[in-house]
Amino acid sequence: MTTILQLNSAARSQGANSTLLANELTAKLQQSNAGAKVVVRNLLTDGLAHLDESVLGAFFTPADSRTAEQAAIVAKSDALIAELQAADIVVIGAPMYNFGISSQLKAYFDWIARAGVTFRYTENGPEGLVKGKKVFVVTARGGKYHGTPNDTQTPYLKTFLGFLGMTDVSFIYAEGLNMGPDAAGAALAGAREAIAAV
Ligand SMILES: Cc1cc2nc3c(=O)[nH]c(=O)nc-3n(C[C@H](O)[C@H](O)[C@H](O)COP(=O)(O)O)c2cc1C
Repeated sequence: MTTILQLNSAARSQGANSTLLANELTAKLQQSNAGAKVVVRNLLTDGLAHLDESVLGAFFTPADSRTAEQAAIVAKSDALIAELQAADIVVIGAPMYNFGISSQLKAYFDWIARAGVTFRYTENGPEGLVKGKKVFVVTARGGKYHGTPNDTQTPYLKTFLGFLGMTDVSFIYAEGLNMGPDAAGAALAGAREAIAAV
């Protein structure tokens, strides 16, 4: 059975374009993968901490030396990684905020990037350990940056996901959402066309 993991990373719980389109993409993928199981993770309400001393300390403390608090942090990270590893398809709703991804998505990445667990360094360089996934990123942007040097989001996401082994990544863009009603309508229509073609 196919498992679809949808990661919602908007900073707003209502009216988020990235979540709206991620929902539509997941529904489309469910149609084309009959019987697929869908897991939705809402990173807004997950409240993952920034990578700080306690989180880093937990990750880098050997299992047999961890405090109860550190063990709980690692268990949470392990659970997020297990959920990701169990997915065949990953749908990421990714708003552009201040030319980057949301801090919710960044925190999620910080909690799943673990040396020896999701990547490792070999004699030949780094090796991602999250393999065999199809990833879709649905981006929502107020302006239009795709294909320009100001689209720092796309190369960052490709690099990070690829580093963990997720190299099959497709992007769907809804751009110009804050450029007036016509541009916003065209942005949603264009993204929906891309979703229909998946
Ligand atoms: C705090 C904040 C920062 C934003 N920064 C950018 C930006 O750097 N570039 C851009 O094109 N749009 C920017 N926008 C507009 C958002 O990309 C747009 O509203 C998009 O719909 C956000 O996704 P969401 O609807 O899923 O929250 C920003 C919006 C907010 C609220």
